[in-house]
Amino acid sequence: MVTILVGGQWGDEGKGKIIDLLSENADMVIRSQGGNNAGHTVVNAGQEFRFHLIPSGILYPTTTCVIGNGVVLDPRVLLEEMQQVQSRGISIDRLVISDRAHLIMPWHPILDKLEEEQRGDDRLGTTWRGIGPAYADKIRRIGFRAGDLLKPRFLDKKLSFVLGKIKNPILEELYHVAPLDRQAILDEYTAYGKRLSLYIKDIFPIVHDALARNERVLLEGAQGSMLDLDFGTYPYVTSSSPTAGGALTGSGIPPSAVDLTMGVFKAYTTRVGYGPMPTELADNLGEQMRKVGVEYGTTTGRPRRVGWFDAVVARYSVALNGIRSIALTKLDVLDGFDPIRICTGYLNKGELQAYPMSNISHLKHCEPVYEELPGWGSSIAGVRRPEDLPKAARRYVDRLSELFSAPIDIVSVGPSRDQTIWMQGGPAQLAVRQRERQASHR
Ligand code: GDP
Ligand code: IMO
Ligand code: MG
Repeated sequence: MVTILVGGQWGDEGKGKIIDLLSENADMVIRSQGGNNAGHTVVNAGQEFRFHLIPSGILYPTTTCVIGNGVVLDPRVLLEEMQQVQSRGISIDRLVISDRAHLIMPWHPILDKLEEEQRGDDRLGTTWRGIGPAYADKIRRIGFRAGDLLKPRFLDKKLSFVLGKIKNPILEELYHVAPLDRQAILDEYTAYGKRLSLYIKDIFPIVHDALARNERVLLEGAQGSMLDLDFGTYPYVTSSSPTAGGALTGSGIPPSAVDLTMGVFKAYTTRVGYGPMPTELADNLGEQMRKVGVEYGTTTGRPRRVGWFDAVVARYSVALNGIRSIALTKLDVLDGFDPIRICTGYLNKGELQAYPMSNISHLKHCEPVYEELPGWGSSIAGVRRPEDLPKAARRYVDRLSELFSAPIDIVSVGPSRDQTIWMQGGPAQLAVRQRERQASHR
């Protein structure tokens, strides 16, 4: 039983909270793309956890947590995170790291920052974690993989070529900065290998045995569909595929095994970094939304850009990922807003667009078309049943469901696990969606 969970917007939709919720009914949770550019927050029994690399399912004692082949892994950051989690009494015995996952090497964050500086006003606003340079090296076939950490002689030989012949010349000749020391890197990474050796494995048999036993496997998306390398607002995107398709190549799971794709969407829109965002509110209302929603990056602390819900993006994400179930988060943040606006279309040179345009200049200059709904003017943070939602809040949720053309199964009204409304009868409803999906395939 495979469920893919993807972010439907520009990341930070609240995936961590939803993964944590769904992990109660999962045997295995897999991160399949991205790296420590991700920041997934889970609030459990008053404790807040921020995961960058470890799958958010780790809080459940029996869930196997896999870092898949599609992830780019910074071993220093992972070891720190493992230590932090352990120091809070959580076991990491069930963590498995794919030996095929590519590594963030010391030159990747340096080049990420230098490239950004060189772009000047056209910079992307990356997280400076070295994500783009690491994926670029993977594609160039000069990447280092987690399995290499266990082979010091191979690591040494590869370093002399990649660092000596490619990276140091770039650092010195192109950027005029100091070269990196091969022996120091070899020592550092060999030490990481020793500390991670218990966890680094070929995940293929582990994942496929789980599938053969019909275990419940959850694929934890990072980032969001609008940051997708192909379908996002290129070049203002990340360097992986945070879509349902990317989840599969990043884990080695075949499309035929997927039972349900769930999309997580915030009840409004946020974005960190540069690039077009048609519904952005660059005014006091936006400032209010940022404050109430505490919209500051989990990874970089940067203020997130905020704006109204964008149903054009939603429609696109649903189609792109084959989303059949929605988790709507942070509805409580809209408590004090009246009226509430929803963007239902973009006007591009007088023409109404059904989907975000591939031409980002058109996207930047398009005019969002809005409809207005009344606000509810009371706190919904304590609501747990759909029938207890104020009428106007229910109307907003129903209207979004119509615009998604997909059912909203979960509405989240606060960061903690219990601040959740199961709209159609609890986790069992998800199993119904899975069966519907299977039936529609037969
Ligand atoms: P992710 O990257 O998609 O996992 O999301 P982040 O963790 O980066 O950002 C989501 C933020 O919203 C976190 O601080 C969560 O604790 C918080 N959050 C999640 N769901 C809700 C909700 O329904 N209401 C409120 N107020 N906060 C939420
Ligand atoms: P989670 O998993 C929000 C954004 C960066 C930047 C662009 C490229 O927490 O939702 P990168 O460092 O990936 O090369 O930066 O992508 N970005 C995210 N924005 N949430 C994330 O992850 C993000 N990961 C990358 O801000 O605009
Ligand atoms: Mg985040």
